[in-house]
Amino acid sequence: MNKEKTCQPKVFVKTFGCQMNMRDSEHVAGILIDNGFRLSGTMDDADVILFNSCSVRKHAEERLFGNIACLKGLKKKRPGLVIALMGCTAQAYEGKAMDRSSLIDIVCGPGNETDLPRLIKDVLKKRCHIIAVDKFNKKRPELFPKYREHKFKALVSISEGCDNFCSYCIVPYLRGRERSRHARDIIREVKGLAGRGFKEVLLLGQNVNSYKAECGKDFIKLLEDVNKIKGIERIRFMTSHPKDAHKELFRAMRDLDKVCEHLHLPLQSGSDRILKLMNRRYTSGKYLNLAEEYKRIVPGGSLTTDIIAGFPSETDSDFKKTCVIMKDVGFDSSYTFKYSPRERTKASELADDVPDDVKASRLKSLSELQCGISEERNRRLTDKVVEVLVEGVSKKDGEILTGRTGTNKPAVFKGSRSLVGRSVDVEIESVTAYALRGRIVR
Ligand code: 5AD
Ligand code: SF4
Repeated sequence: MNKEKTCQPKVFVKTFGCQMNMRDSEHVAGILIDNGFRLSGTMDDADVILFNSCSVRKHAEERLFGNIACLKGLKKKRPGLVIALMGCTAQAYEGKAMDRSSLIDIVCGPGNETDLPRLIKDVLKKRCHIIAVDKFNKKRPELFPKYREHKFKALVSISEGCDNFCSYCIVPYLRGRERSRHARDIIREVKGLAGRGFKEVLLLGQNVNSYKAECGKDFIKLLEDVNKIKGIERIRFMTSHPKDAHKELFRAMRDLDKVCEHLHLPLQSGSDRILKLMNRRYTSGKYLNLAEEYKRIVPGGSLTTDIIAGFPSETDSDFKKTCVIMKDVGFDSSYTFKYSPRERTKASELADDVPDDVKASRLKSLSELQCGISEERNRRLTDKVVEVLVEGVSKKDGEILTGRTGTNKPAVFKGSRSLVGRSVDVEIESVTAYALRGRIVR
């Protein structure tokens, strides 16, 4: 090992999962950099490969262990290579992760992230195996992420854990009860970001609407405070639980100029019977009213959702109800998932009795249905001028820029790469279900 390598080991971080996981990866990358590590863009020259993986569905875990298995050859060639696992899967599996793959050297739970530099250094030196997984129910120390994947949009955690115990969901068991970050720390983090030229923040929590700071500030007050921060142009947030989203939130979205007019409001199912079994604590009727209220108060706002197909005992008739409400609401887009039983959850006590091919065919129907609705929703923007934050240059064509509207729709248009990080007005000329195409008019 050359001297430089001994002093500054290189870490490649691979993330599977949602924005929460991305944020955690950034956080850990910052801690590692602070402790003398360097980040690597590829696995090939890394001393350490760190996997951060979600456990919400079995599929994500399968992908993770599949990826780790692929490293067998690399580890044989370079026995010194350290393979570490962090995040929800580390919390769920603890030492059993090493039984599943003998290639893993470190299992580090979400509550032990600050120890990771020391753990890696120990393994690099002593060639041992380490499992560090505490019960994850405590507040994390206030460490502002030092490393950010993007240059002008940032992920900002406002709360961790969840108290809702939806019957299918493993999150409360792996991430503990809901803990809101202090509003003062969130504001300090966002001001710091604005000072470094960041334009957009995505406020993250499993249920942002139940955010409650020690000082008594609720989510709307937090939005008002973030809205005052100079330099920040766009504020996004996710996720909202329908039982806690209300008119005041929609009014804040309408009245606060920087808050984007996009609401992610997971529906999960359109059948009241299934919603009850899911412990979602709303009915399809209540959801529909909420969606209508949102559209009335935030005209032009977009609405996206999550749907689970094939929850235990879901019949064709239950599923049809989901399709009906999808059409009635007219979602701009949706994330659809096959139900995946998770150990320890209440739903895992129910028979997973919807055959996989039925789950797959329901997922396909949802995707076809959504495709038509999305295209129709996007078509309404034809000939309209929308504001787009330019995020990058197309990989296929260096003259084409990519960005997102305030409603979180991807847009592509011709322009100079010097516009990356700036907001432009784009007149929409054509659309597909997935993106808008147009030309810059200002
Ligand atoms: N099976 C399938 N989908 C799930 N989700 C959460 N848990 C499960 C599960 N066990 C989905 C929900 C949630 C999204 C993040 O993941 O739709 O909103
Ligand atoms: Fe899971 Fe429900 Fe909490 Fe979302 S609100 S994280 S689905 S328990």
